[in-house]
Amino acid sequence: MTLRHRIAPSLLSADFARLGEEVAAVIAAGADWIHFDVMDNHYVPNLTFGPMVCSALKRHAATSAGQPVPIDVHLMVQPVDALAQAFAQAGADYISFHPDASAHVHRSVQAIKASGCKAGLVFNPAASMDVLDWMIEEIDLILIMSVNPGFGGQGFIDSALRKIEQARQRITACGRDIRLEVDGGIKTDNIARVAAAGADTFVAGSAIFGQPDYRRVIDDMRAALMG
Ligand code: DX5
Ligand code: ZN
Repeated sequence: MTLRHRIAPSLLSADFARLGEEVAAVIAAGADWIHFDVMDNHYVPNLTFGPMVCSALKRHAATSAGQPVPIDVHLMVQPVDALAQAFAQAGADYISFHPDASAHVHRSVQAIKASGCKAGLVFNPAASMDVLDWMIEEIDLILIMSVNPGFGGQGFIDSALRKIEQARQRITACGRDIRLEVDGGIKTDNIARVAAAGADTFVAGSAIFGQPDYRRVIDDMRAALMG
């Protein structure tokens, strides 16, 4: 694998009765980040876990050598600010939100950064990225949704590839160190195409947790990225 690629297993498809073990297992299998999908049954029609669960998992988010593994919180909630602060206190490293869920996007990003976390903006399949005209200098991550948010196990929406290309052009033009992450329907057989479009960070839920051997899936993804 090239060092710039990151694989971020989504706990949405993990065994919720054994979340600590699942975090440890997927890190032992080579996960770079832990992707933590927060759903509120309001912004999206599903409900997952909150800051207390993130806090409980924080001590599991490290390699066997004690190296911390970033917790990548994807907020699918409305409003954004109070929960973002709660996740910052719960040990999140990255906090991303959907701009259409915040009344004041710039203020929400500033608050996340002031709490010591890296800030990201998330774009749904039909969402325009115009807000980046004003926000790209402020953020650390762009997350492109390649499914509609709310559920794991959906099929990859191909128009996301065009959006990834456009996001990569914006990042290159801006010249800042901004991660370009893709979320939804990522598998071993499409990850190379997604990387070719410009993504460097790959969320995968069902593709990893749906298989008995997490290491094998992650190794196969890295092989596809190298190939
Ligand atoms: C969807 C979530 C994703 C989801 C991806 O709203 O944001 O992170 O877990 O799941 P898969 O990889 O199964 O498409
Ligand atoms: Zn997600």
